[in-house]
Amino acid sequence: MKNYILFFVIVVFLSCSEETKQVSEEKQTYEKAINELLSKMTLEEKIGQTNLRGTSSRSKILPEELKEAVRKGNVGAFLNVMNLDYVDELQKIAVEESPNGIPLIFGRDVIHGFKTIFPIPIGLAATWDAQIAKSSSEIAAFEASAAGIRWTFAPMLDIARDSRWGRIAESPGEDPYLATVLGRAYIEGFQGEDLSNPTSLAACAKHFIGYGAAIGGRDYNTVNISEPLLRNVYLPPFKSAIDAGVATVMSSFNEINGIPASGNKFLLKQVLRNELGFNGFVVSDWNSTTEMIAHGFARDEKHAGELSAAAGMDMEMTSTAYENHLKDLIKEGKVTEEQLDEFVKNILRVKFKLGLFKNPYRNKEHTGNFYAEKHLQEAKNAAIKSTVLLKNNSVLPISQNIKVAIIGPLANAPHEQLGTWSFDGEKEHTNTPLMAFKKANTKYVFSKGLDYSRDKSTDGFKEAIKTARNSDVILFFGGEEAILSGEAHSRANIDLPGAQEQLIKELAKTGKPIVLIIMAGRPISISNIIDDIDAVLMAWHPGTMGGEALHEIMYGIQEPGGRLPVSWPKTAGQLPFFYNHKNTGRPADSVKFVPIDKIPIGSWQSSLGNESHYLDVGYKPQYPFGYGLTYTNFKYENIQISKDTINFEDELSVKISLKNTGKRDGKDITQLYVQDAVGSITRPVKELKRFMPVFLKSGETKEVEFRISSKDLEFVNYEMIKAAEEGNFNVWIGPHSASGLKKSFYLKK
Ligand code: BGC
Repeated sequence: MKNYILFFVIVVFLSCSEETKQVSEEKQTYEKAINELLSKMTLEEKIGQTNLRGTSSRSKILPEELKEAVRKGNVGAFLNVMNLDYVDELQKIAVEESPNGIPLIFGRDVIHGFKTIFPIPIGLAATWDAQIAKSSSEIAAFEASAAGIRWTFAPMLDIARDSRWGRIAESPGEDPYLATVLGRAYIEGFQGEDLSNPTSLAACAKHFIGYGAAIGGRDYNTVNISEPLLRNVYLPPFKSAIDAGVATVMSSFNEINGIPASGNKFLLKQVLRNELGFNGFVVSDWNSTTEMIAHGFARDEKHAGELSAAAGMDMEMTSTAYENHLKDLIKEGKVTEEQLDEFVKNILRVKFKLGLFKNPYRNKEHTGNFYAEKHLQEAKNAAIKSTVLLKNNSVLPISQNIKVAIIGPLANAPHEQLGTWSFDGEKEHTNTPLMAFKKANTKYVFSKGLDYSRDKSTDGFKEAIKTARNSDVILFFGGEEAILSGEAHSRANIDLPGAQEQLIKELAKTGKPIVLIIMAGRPISISNIIDDIDAVLMAWHPGTMGGEALHEIMYGIQEPGGRLPVSWPKTAGQLPFFYNHKNTGRPADSVKFVPIDKIPIGSWQSSLGNESHYLDVGYKPQYPFGYGLTYTNFKYENIQISKDTINFEDELSVKISLKNTGKRDGKDITQLYVQDAVGSITRPVKELKRFMPVFLKSGETKEVEFRISSKDLEFVNYEMIKAAEEGNFNVWIGPHSASGLKKSFYLKK
């Protein structure tokens, strides 16, 4: 027996080392090939590799000038070439006619699907499900690669704590741990096991870094982040992407602490390359190199090129500072040719990994199976799992026998429900809620009430109210059109736009129960109407299959599976808002809090209440991070920890008993949070460290166990040392960030 085990160990060892040997040989081969190629390239060709040329996907002609640039080796990559003939022709010129036959990479923003559109990324984040993130990006890669695309500008890994920011729609939400789990899954999905597989895409972790911390939630705005905050909150998702082998990273538009990210040596060289060990290439965001002029950091285009080069930016997106000036900058000794060689090597390495030297052309046999049944079912599943039930006065699920009034501007808006960054998804393939109700032969009456989300006209109210009267329950599909979130689409007011609130108030007068289904790119402030509605379901922009997904949720064929990946504010005035904030010296609590209407008239000037809150909206969100109801109920009981004191090598087991106390089977997403009570720098009041989906039959009880160690308690302090510190910790297991059963333990050196 012993011999047998020894044999087994040796075989495993040999096969592992065989694998490692193979990988390192492969690496050596392409590193050798890269060096050989580099030695043959002229300065102009090297500069050409750093050039990412943008085109318009609607372009009807392929300009001669562009072909000539490729022929001369002056372009390294393209974005948005969506005409298949142009893709083929440009690649043929690059491979057959350019001096060294270096293939091009074709890039595109394939963010949440290519043709089959999945929920917007914040919706995917609401699934808390890495498998969904992975399969959605796998399908997106499969479809997009049929169009010759081998590089996507995704995933976006910006932590977003402000719902005014339009790009919160594309973000993984406010929590670094959740973003880390999802980031890894996206990379695995896009890139697959082997990047040289022609149906995989090189991923791009963006936007490095701090873009989501734009002051006031105004897109592109200035960012001030202390280094510990940067390292503890904004960096972890990027680290996880790099550990997962992400091929490229995009630098962000914003400045951070006074230095634009696209010219930031510290971030791009020290942090990204030296510390995180990134060995793919860095691409600027659209014109972000030359935008350093408007930032007041670069004097002119040439200076911008010099600054980006000094920072270690490998490829320039659309602006032409490198193209126009790198040669002179090298001549003048302001940039060295060795630096440029590094950029080119980084770019060629990704081209080798993508297998483009062996297999540069689009595989014409690969159709992408756009909207294949399997893709649609995955998209539907993702939409179901992304919806978050926020309120339910027992109105949902509805029974088959009652008559439904479908009302609202998003009940049948195929284009809008696809959300931001859905260039390639066709509205003709979109399944809306109205279509799904029609197809299922359900008893419904329909009246839009408003033509589109911003519609201020009350002309349709009368008809909508009549429709509502003629029903047993109102399903109001409201929210925001797709164009109201995403890049450059920040809002100062995050209420339902147009006359939606007014219409809901009118409908409430009918006395019929109202279910508000929100399709939007951000949490929407509903505090003005919360008492007029009986249930609220957040569907984000649910994508191609949103209609069927929502129909099944309404009737309880499926349950809403999502949890909030961001705190849901009562009003924009509370923003930025995030659960993992720090305490103040006067933390807010319900005992001291004095609401505005309770302040005596003619009060003496005093710091009444004495704590950190708003007089008018208090200190709590409408719904906390991690929150989401289901069609059943769960009871958390009997939290236990394996030890009261652990040392740095120990693992701590934390468990609870979870019971499904409702009448339906259902899924809980059980969450574990930790608080480091005292730190060498102050620590957040709570931080998510683990979560787990738990399926329970009605009446069933399960023990749910998590294991954590001192690694999970580490943070970066002002000396930039990452370590866990001895002391007291609190740990909670619960259904969301504002609830849970608590225990304490001590971490001892
Ligand atoms: C966005 C990026 C995007 C790029 C290319 C920029 O405006 O910030 O996220 O990848 O355009 O379309």
